[in-house]
Amino acid sequence: MSKTLTIRRPDDWHLHLRDGDMLAAVLPETARHFGRAIIMPNLLPPVVTGADARAYLERIMAALPKSANFTPLMTLYLTEDTDPEDVAAAHDAGLIWAVKLYPAGATTNSASGVTDFDKVRPVLERMAEIGLTLCVHGEVTDPDVDIFDREAVFIDRVLDPLRRATPDLRVVMEHVTTKDGVDYIASADKNLAGTITTHHLVINRNHILAGGIRPHYYCLPVAKREVHRLALLEAATSGNPQFFLGTDSAPHIDPAKESGCGCAGCFTATNTVSVLAEVFEKAGALDKLEAFTSLNGAEFYQFPASDSTLTLTRGAPLTYPAKINSGDGPVTVFDPGFDLHWHVRVNP
Ligand code: DOR
Ligand code: ZN
Repeated sequence: MSKTLTIRRPDDWHLHLRDGDMLAAVLPETARHFGRAIIMPNLLPPVVTGADARAYLERIMAALPKSANFTPLMTLYLTEDTDPEDVAAAHDAGLIWAVKLYPAGATTNSASGVTDFDKVRPVLERMAEIGLTLCVHGEVTDPDVDIFDREAVFIDRVLDPLRRATPDLRVVMEHVTTKDGVDYIASADKNLAGTITTHHLVINRNHILAGGIRPHYYCLPVAKREVHRLALLEAATSGNPQFFLGTDSAPHIDPAKESGCGCAGCFTATNTVSVLAEVFEKAGALDKLEAFTSLNGAEFYQFPASDSTLTLTRGAPLTYPAKINSGDGPVTVFDPGFDLHWHVRVNP
């Protein structure tokens, strides 16, 4: 007998759509199942001003298939020169839903990010006043800090002092990868939430490094030990409203991943919903899937949950493309390493 599960349409609270041909190739993959997504601003050059966000939104809408029912939620990329008034005006206009803080050098296209956190204090204070969310890439970039410790050190050195200095600021610690991050969020007040990616619920660092280097599992923050993956799984399946899905689906063409210096990012948009259903089923927590994918994030960002639904049906192993073609080249779809049985149907 096939099992079915109907959930509100999911939202993706952390997504990379890129631009140009890549945007056109990956946008339908997300819009097929998701109703809304927070769109990362780390283009080259980055989306820094309200005018940049408006222009990017227009490019996304132009690339969106006519039949799609998808709303991109724009963000700005925080720099040391960001003007608090421009941020407030973009928020007032209903154009942006968050501002993204990248420590300079932490990840893909983060060179324009923040080095001196004191310089962005006026923007953060203005954001706290108007209730605008700060999304944080939570890793220090200090070369003396081991890459597997960068998230935990960021919490102590940057995030906790920043939140103490601006307690009213709403903060999302994005793509949490450690038990330290999970514990920090769970012990904080409701102004702090965390997104968890699909891939960090599936892989640990062995997937990247044991038996050969597997560049398609390399992302930032890098996957950690199994104990950390288990802490993420527990948080995601707990129903705690402070944790919700942000896939961080981040397409790079294969030559950029399979390289002497490969790019960070896992492309999960194509099969994320089926992967998550499988992960939650294995954890005995299918009843918590909807909260994680479709309710908790909307509540944090103060949106109503979607009024449309998806139906998941358990059946024969799903077939999905190993790669999608972009005009720039092939992009490998995340391979969870196990069969997927949950078929997704979008209800009218
Ligand atoms: O793996 C990642 N890829 N992590 C990030 O923080 C950025 C992203 C990208 O833009 O490729
Ligand atoms: Zn990201």
